[in-house]
Amino acid sequence: MLDKNSDPQNASALANRWQSIGDSIFSKMTKLASHHKAINLGQGAPDFYGPQKLLDAICTHMQTCHNQYSPAPGENYLCEQLALFIEQQTSVKYDPNTEITVTCGASEALFCTLNAFLSEGDKVILFEPAYDLYAQAIANTGAQIVPVQMDPPEANSEANEDKLWTINWESFEKACQQGFKCIIINTPHNPTGKVFTKNELKKIGYAAHKNKAIIISDEVYENLSFTDSRPYTSVASIPELRDITIRISSSAKLFGFTGLKIGWASAPEHLTKGIQLVHQSTVFCVNPALQLGLAECLADKEWLSQYLQTQQESYRKKRDILKTILKNAGFFLSACDGTFFLCANYKEIYKNTNSLEFSNFFVENSKIATIPFASFYLKPPTAFPWVRFAFCKSDETLLSVEKNLLKNG
Ligand SMILES: Cc1ncc(COP(=O)(O)O)c(C=O)c1O
Repeated sequence: MLDKNSDPQNASALANRWQSIGDSIFSKMTKLASHHKAINLGQGAPDFYGPQKLLDAICTHMQTCHNQYSPAPGENYLCEQLALFIEQQTSVKYDPNTEITVTCGASEALFCTLNAFLSEGDKVILFEPAYDLYAQAIANTGAQIVPVQMDPPEANSEANEDKLWTINWESFEKACQQGFKCIIINTPHNPTGKVFTKNELKKIGYAAHKNKAIIISDEVYENLSFTDSRPYTSVASIPELRDITIRISSSAKLFGFTGLKIGWASAPEHLTKGIQLVHQSTVFCVNPALQLGLAECLADKEWLSQYLQTQQESYRKKRDILKTILKNAGFFLSACDGTFFLCANYKEIYKNTNSLEFSNFFVENSKIATIPFASFYLKPPTAFPWVRFAFCKSDETLLSVEKNLLKNG
């Protein structure tokens, strides 16, 4: 998942639980992209600005608000606006006073949640491929990951093109038999672009319910769901699951400013208490001007609804631009119903099936940075020629991918 050899000297001074963690693949590919003057489709950060209204609101609050510690769970006004926003997105009601925590990005919400509820030896079910932060945050708790595989469409015929990754239910049943304390769901899913259906969520969620386990549902890509027939559903909206679910989201993806680092966790009061206990011992609170600026934008319902609709449309268009370019270049693509990632199998254009080697080759020769799929697994499968491309880039950047492919092959 991470390069264990990146810092061999200091590794010996590290606590055991961090020994297996090194530089993240996202930082590494970004460095390589810069070194080779390549287009960075590795890291999922937009190369364009989010809404000016949000920047203006933040600047105003920076000049006028108290600029002192805010209440640890979050500014009251933001918690109120988040409760309304979450209800609008998911139909689930949360009490702004007792069921919402504002965090330093979804990353901190995940870290607090996992650290609040996992003890050494606990089992956590994680669908793989998986966003790599989960394994890093779990490493700190001493809990044990039980991976459940998701299978890609077979890249052996055009008929399979644009099919979704599927949950390997056999692998899921086996994982459940071991008993588990927690299960992590991520929908829309990074990296596969799958949006879990309501039936899939029910099947997974009911297994958690039966095991008296907690569900952590990472829904940061909630507004980036593109296929009307397979819409985004929040795990918490399934009535039996609301009270065992911690739902996590973030302004990073909603407003296209990954540097804003405001996330939130919504959960029933007894779970919220645990998250807030860890939150007060890590960052304690988030910058108040950022919180109030965000709250102001969420409160302007007419503006918000127009913004979210335009954002979704524009990302759908970006997905289609990159899809056409990569298909024409000979990649086999699985379907992307959500997120801003396309998954591509490269076996027809490059024979080496080690995805890290392909990514290194591709960034140097085609001047395009990708993320190798090996980084999304605890134990990467062998001969797995898949890479992830981020399309959260300007149309101009996406079109220059075609030029690079034509020029450099
Ligand atoms: C699935 C997923 N969860 C959480 C995060 C982290 O979000 P934030 O930037 O708000 O910490 C990311 C960022 O890429 C992500 O892809």
